[in-house]
Amino acid sequence: MIVAIDGPAGSGKSTIAREVAERYGFEKLDTGALYRTCAAVCADEGVELDDEAAVVDRSREIDIRFDAHGEATRISADGRDVSDEIRTPRIDRIVSQVSAYPGVREAMLPVQRRFAEGRDVVAEGRDIGTVVFPEADLKVFLTADPRERARRRVLQRHEHDAEAPSAEAIEAEVDQTLADLERRDALDSSRAVAPLEAAEDAVHIDSTAHTIDQIVERVGELIRERR
Ligand code: DC
Repeated sequence: MIVAIDGPAGSGKSTIAREVAERYGFEKLDTGALYRTCAAVCADEGVELDDEAAVVDRSREIDIRFDAHGEATRISADGRDVSDEIRTPRIDRIVSQVSAYPGVREAMLPVQRRFAEGRDVVAEGRDIGTVVFPEADLKVFLTADPRERARRRVLQRHEHDAEAPSAEAIEAEVDQTLADLERRDALDSSRAVAPLEAAEDAVHIDSTAHTIDQIVERVGELIRERR
């Protein structure tokens, strides 16, 4: 069984996908991590990001693997663990450019489909229900108010801080993050190939006014209906 969860940055896709995977026994596939890995490898190796052909060539050759490490999944590129690097603001800023190249997206298709072979998978991304798994058994399109999405990102960034930042500092960071997030949404939604959009048969869920638990329960009901 394949469950597709698509939506913009910060809508709660990865949290919901992780909970759904745990509660209902699915493998979780974080497809954004693949584009992040392409961006990180190219940037680290000095591949000019404006050089589409060079980025596509390099992306095609990367040996990307997901390895389970207890609760967490680590991702490696050509044997090097890039799990932490791909979550940095540096990669946040460049990933949309790399993921907009059609050749990069094409190169990531077999990686995603191979992952799902013979198992129950909950995959989260932007084009899962429309392009990667158009035959998915369940498609969810998750949205949330942009400011709420920015706030979640900021709180997540500070969750391990020894001392919590002041309320004013948080608000200032939310403003900055909101601007970055809207810029990325615009890029992801307007690109020519596989833009962020809901599949016709997707179930829309707005996460702004719901708890994680409520959304996971709702997805659980939808899974039971389709099993
Ligand atoms: O979900 P995320 O923030 O890790 O995604 C990183 C980038 O990758 C995001 O800017 C859009 C792109 N992406 C994509 O184009 N298609 C996907 N299926 C997943 C992510």
